[in-house]
Amino acid sequence: MKKYLILTGAGISAESGIQTFRDSGGLWANHRVEDVASPQGFQKNPKLVWNFYKERFAETLKVEPNPAHLALSKLEKALQDDFYLITQNVDGLHTRAGNKRIYEMHGRLSSAFCTGCSKRYQVSELDLDSDVPLCSKCGKILRPDVVWFEEIPYYLYEIEALLKSCDVFVILGTSGTVYPAAGFVMTAKLFGAHTIAINLSKPDNLNFIDEFYLGKCGELLPPMVDRILEEL
Ligand code: APR
Repeated sequence: MKKYLILTGAGISAESGIQTFRDSGGLWANHRVEDVASPQGFQKNPKLVWNFYKERFAETLKVEPNPAHLALSKLEKALQDDFYLITQNVDGLHTRAGNKRIYEMHGRLSSAFCTGCSKRYQVSELDLDSDVPLCSKCGKILRPDVVWFEEIPYYLYEIEALLKSCDVFVILGTSGTVYPAAGFVMTAKLFGAHTIAINLSKPDNLNFIDEFYLGKCGELLPPMVDRILEEL
């Protein structure tokens, strides 16, 4: 059986009602990245950063996985170990849709960790009325478990191995502008994978994509998954 590797970005959650980053009216149109998504921004104003992530965490509790998330869950159930999902999203919707073979390379809104002793917490168990939550073990401030600009994404070794061994690499709802994720398609292609993408606009790394479908993930992905399953 062919090995499928999927990479998702904010576009796959757009139809659930989560804002993307770079579309008009996206998150980065109203917030300065360096203020809310950089280690320097957090050092300067942890309260502002926590307010931003508290809002985004609250937003995830109000939304549901959409047909695109559910299609990926169906694909994993059928392919088992021949399926892996890398997501840049921190909203947890893939997990809620039922995916298990998943690397959340930019972290997760549902988790936080201590800047002093690294103890991890579920955000749902924190006192979010306090401006900046503190560690119950060492008293230092907690930070969101989200990878910021200038930080190294999680699971890069595991991801590299998957990119080099997959047969089909499918990219869903990402602008292809933020590295290293934007460069994954080059590695997959160099190592022989067939590359497919669905996006509402042409991504920046279009040159490396063999099959491109312009449109919404929630509309185009479910029939694509059904075609893959028919061919098994
Ligand atoms: N279906 C498919 N594509 C969509 C949809 C949809 N329903 N809605 C929007 N898109 C596309 C947009 O056209 C855009 O190209 O999804 C892409 C989203 O791009 P970005 O907002 O740049 O999001 P993403 O690529 O995930 O950003 C990568 O940047 O700021 C960081 O850490 C953040 O993980 C994020 C990273």
